[in-house]
Amino acid sequence: MQIPSLRGPRLLLRPWQDTDIDPFVALNADPVVMQHFPSVLSRDETLASLARIHAHFATHGYGVWVVSHPGEADFLGFVGIYHPTFTAHFTRPEAPCLEIAWRLVPAAWGKGYATEGARLSLRHAFSVLGADEVVSLTVPSNERSRAVMQRLGMQHSPADDFDHPRLPEGHPLRRHVLYRLPRSRFVDVL
Ligand SMILES: CC(C)(COP(=O)(O)OP(=O)(O)OC[C@H]1O[C@@H](n2cnc3c(N)ncnc32)[C@H](O)[C@@H]1OP(=O)(O)O)[C@@H](O)C(=O)NCCC(=O)NCCS
Repeated sequence: MQIPSLRGPRLLLRPWQDTDIDPFVALNADPVVMQHFPSVLSRDETLASLARIHAHFATHGYGVWVVSHPGEADFLGFVGIYHPTFTAHFTRPEAPCLEIAWRLVPAAWGKGYATEGARLSLRHAFSVLGADEVVSLTVPSNERSRAVMQRLGMQHSPADDFDHPRLPEGHPLRRHVLYRLPRSRFVDVL
């Protein structure tokens, strides 16, 4: 399946290549990057995650793309859209839930890159795929990620807060907030 690249004013969201493996391993092993996740990832865990990313692209033709700044930095992390594999109140059997996510190297924070990459991904979700809604989720304390969601016009309703089914009862990161963006609210400002 042909995997599209998405171009923004500064960034290129591109398919993964073998040279991304080592920087992706380093990204997932960074405690600052992973502070809102249960743990940093080992090399084997990152390779397993990469296999799931490739499988998603192979099945759907979209997924989380590598964020690249052509001419400046080949690998800045990932941004993209995918179908979560767990079940929660917002995952609908009749119309598979589409989630947007981002993870960038700290040197790329504070420049609007996550927001630009997210806008490219949302344009793809709504204009190319015809999605009716995209959601995003994180722990309440992940203020940087929540700020990205808010910049995108995503809305949080406390009634949507939920316990992540992949984390055991009592885990400090189990509680999650959910942000929703219906197609009608997406403003394509790139
Ligand atoms: C979440 C994450 C991607 C957010 O990155 P970020 O750099 O804060 O977000 P953006 O790329 O949208 O950048 C916004 C910042 O860039 C600034 N900025 C500079 N130029 C900008 C531009 N052209 N457009 C928009 N913002 C710009 C904004 O003012 C804002 O600054 P502030 O943080 O001081 O308020 C990053 O913190 C991360 O990778 N965290 C670890 C992984 C993670 O937790 N992922 C989410 C899991 S749910």
